[in-house]
Amino acid sequence: MVRELVSCIGSHLVDKLMENEKNEVIFADNYVTGSKENLEKWIGHPRFELIRHDVREPLLIEVDRIYHLVCPASPIFYKYNPVKTIQTNVIGTLSMSGVILLTSTSEVYVDPLIHPQPESYWGNVNPIGVRSCYDEGKASVQHGIEIRIARIFNTYGPRMNIDVGRVGSNFIPQALRGDALTIQKPGTQTRSFCYLSDMVEGDDTGPINIGNPGGFAMVELAETVKERKPDISKAKEVLSWEPMVKLREGLPLMEENFRLKSKLYCNESSTKKKMAQPCKL
Ligand SMILES: NC(=O)c1ccc[n+]([C@@H]2O[C@H](COP(=O)([O-])OP(=O)(O)OC[C@H]3O[C@@H](n4cnc5c(N)ncnc54)[C@H](O)[C@@H]3O)[C@@H](O)[C@H]2O)c1
Repeated sequence: MVRELVSCIGSHLVDKLMENEKNEVIFADNYVTGSKENLEKWIGHPRFELIRHDVREPLLIEVDRIYHLVCPASPIFYKYNPVKTIQTNVIGTLSMSGVILLTSTSEVYVDPLIHPQPESYWGNVNPIGVRSCYDEGKASVQHGIEIRIARIFNTYGPRMNIDVGRVGSNFIPQALRGDALTIQKPGTQTRSFCYLSDMVEGDDTGPINIGNPGGFAMVELAETVKERKPDISKAKEVLSWEPMVKLREGLPLMEENFRLKSKLYCNESSTKKKMAQPCKL
């Protein structure tokens, strides 16, 4: 019997784990950015348990494996309360023991000078930057405890929060509303995009880059392009893993999900404002 303690990208991971009838899944989350809706189909299932819990507080449960995904992942949310973000990463991780997989981030490479980034690269770090609560928090727990680390690059797909400052989650609702697409300056930066179902395939020893090595420029200009995209040689070698879903196949699935979500909110006259409003940490 396998029991898991999991959260968010989490809901897709739960779908995967529940496919195996030997698994029992315990999902702990404080819902600060996550939503119960994403787990609707498992609530009430005999092998599934949902607990409202903040990882900064102790939780005593015996499990065989822990998938530690909790942490606000969007800049709007993690910058909202930097102290809580650091605490979630550091206290939340240090309070766990056992076989742990931590979802780290490509943000640990910050503003990389090497492209693509291998796991051995230290990054070009800004310890006093506004994002440091997130990237330094994630980086600091890579030492001193036995932990497997998946360094996740940009992920997209159904069930993401709408309008929370990430390219996919902003572009699609803007396009659905007929608004102009917001491109952060300078626009020459590229990001790689990995579809969620690909993402949840890779869960073995780390740190291992998990992402799509194909870069995608926000705006194509002749200038030097700043890229953050993974070198996934290690994931291929150690996990026999590489992403399968192409951006053109994955985006329509995300769009379909966002259309449904938009309908839910459309009774509000201030739909746009409501969707753009991050919840409080
Ligand atoms: N989505 C991406 O592109 C991406 C990229 C790199 C890394 N990651 C990492 O993957 C993980 C999941 O990302 P996501 O996109 O699903 O993010 P998300 O914001 O949708 O999910 C994070 C979850 O953590 C919960 N949470 C936050 N603080 C908590 C706390 N103190 N106690 C309990 N629960 C708490 C939230 O309620 C939410 O359900 C995060 O650790 C993130 O850093 C994601």
